[in-house]
Amino acid sequence: MLIKTTIEIPSSEVTPKSLYLNRRSFLTALPPAFLGAHELLSPTARANAAVKFGDLIKSPLSTTEKQNSFKDVSTYNNFYEFGTSKEQPAQLAKNFKTSPWVVSVEGEVAKPRKFSVDELLKLAPLEERIYRHRCVEAWSIVVPWIGYSLSALLKKVEPTSKAKFVYFETYYDLKEMPEAKNAGIPLPYVEGLRLDEAMHPLALLTMGMYGESLPPQDGAPVRLIVPWKYGFKSIKSLVKIRLVSSQPLNTWNASNSKEYGFYSNVNPQVDHPRWTQANERRLGELRRRPTLMFNGYADQVASLYSGMDLKKNF
Ligand code: MTE
Repeated sequence: MLIKTTIEIPSSEVTPKSLYLNRRSFLTALPPAFLGAHELLSPTARANAAVKFGDLIKSPLSTTEKQNSFKDVSTYNNFYEFGTSKEQPAQLAKNFKTSPWVVSVEGEVAKPRKFSVDELLKLAPLEERIYRHRCVEAWSIVVPWIGYSLSALLKKVEPTSKAKFVYFETYYDLKEMPEAKNAGIPLPYVEGLRLDEAMHPLALLTMGMYGESLPPQDGAPVRLIVPWKYGFKSIKSLVKIRLVSSQPLNTWNASNSKEYGFYSNVNPQVDHPRWTQANERRLGELRRRPTLMFNGYADQVASLYSGMDLKKNF
């Protein structure tokens, strides 16, 4: 992963959101309850419009910090299947087809099953969760994500006593992701969590941001957000969730195990071999701010790691 050193354009100077929204919608897959103002648009406009979500629960797990702009979050991305620069995913994922879409939840579970996005959207009440999101490259953003705790989905399939970890896999098709051949990392992109981490209420199964469905470059139609870990754990465009008995491989660890671990908890005391993790730059700001242990979520998650050497288990 590269570090970007150029200065961001302030969000006050950006194009109005309506002009750069150009996304394929999974409108037809949604029940009427999830349709909002976009229903009133012309059929052509609707084909590229995002879906607005109404009646979102405001989560008590949200931070009150200033949010980044939609533009910050949707034009500066890591999504190597659509290019290795920060700007490429917004361009190259524009026509990524995210409907129909199925997520298979399988493995060490009593009730394995496939879920359509429509089914996922109805599985639990949708919440708005404003989280800090800290990339291993030492930039951070604050985003109002939309989703619900991953635990709600995992409980549905009833993990067996053999389930100790959860493996996640991203959709992969070179025809739709031609830039993926230059990704320089093994694909499909895969990730993993310990079962207790995956069941933690903060781990968010995410279907939207800023009141509407995710844009493709941010991991449409469904991704994970694990706010106390470096951003690479927050795997995008999920197609497979498998409960397993032993620790699964994760892409960045498989690619370079000296630099990227399995746990990847945000930890200002453990530097990356090539740069400090003690501070970070919030997109849209010039100053650097201190990085917080577990990205500021220590009160909620530190107990998951009691007794563990976090330097060894980085
Ligand atoms: N998921 C997939 N499938 N492919 C990727 O390249 N990049 C990861 C993570 N999820 C990535 C991925 C990294 S390195 C980061 S920092 C976050 O996505 C970035 O999420 P964002 O672009 O929404 O900020």
